[in-house]
Amino acid sequence: MFDINLFNGMSVCEKYDNMLIMLEGLVNGDEPNVTKLSNASALINALTSNINWCGFYIMKNGELILGPFQGMPACTKIQFGKGVCGTAVKDKKVMRIANVHEFEGHIACDAASNSEIVIPIIKNGIVYAVLDIDSEEVGRFTEVDEKYLVRAVEVLNKYIEF
Ligand code: SME
Repeated sequence: MFDINLFNGMSVCEKYDNMLIMLEGLVNGDEPNVTKLSNASALINALTSNINWCGFYIMKNGELILGPFQGMPACTKIQFGKGVCGTAVKDKKVMRIANVHEFEGHIACDAASNSEIVIPIIKNGIVYAVLDIDSEEVGRFTEVDEKYLVRAVEVLNKYIEF
């Protein structure tokens, strides 16, 4: 059972610390990737405040394909180097965009989104997927968010063979 009320009154860091522990429990078994990533997107979505989309794109045949997510229906394919997600794959780095309308080539899926963070999931120098999170709030994602979300991706990387 998952009770979101347990997190009432916790600071941002306390929530993220708990999220990392729970995430490990959700993905350390032998379930298929779709199961693990579905629960991961639900958990991150539940414990990250003020976001409107949270999910994964998975690399397949050189492009990103929509994976498990929470939020509005989204574009199903993103080409290498395109948009914020494709740029994270090409450059192999975290993209933390304060205002997506100022990012040339941003791909709008949910019209409500104004800021975005994309964390590539990289093993042995190869990008296998990205974690993508959007917010309606300009400048929503801080260095603290980035630090914890990178750690969340490290947990996924440890237990999931993409
Ligand atoms: N904004 C992303 C596209 C994916 S949606 O945000 C869910 C991008 O520019 O790559």
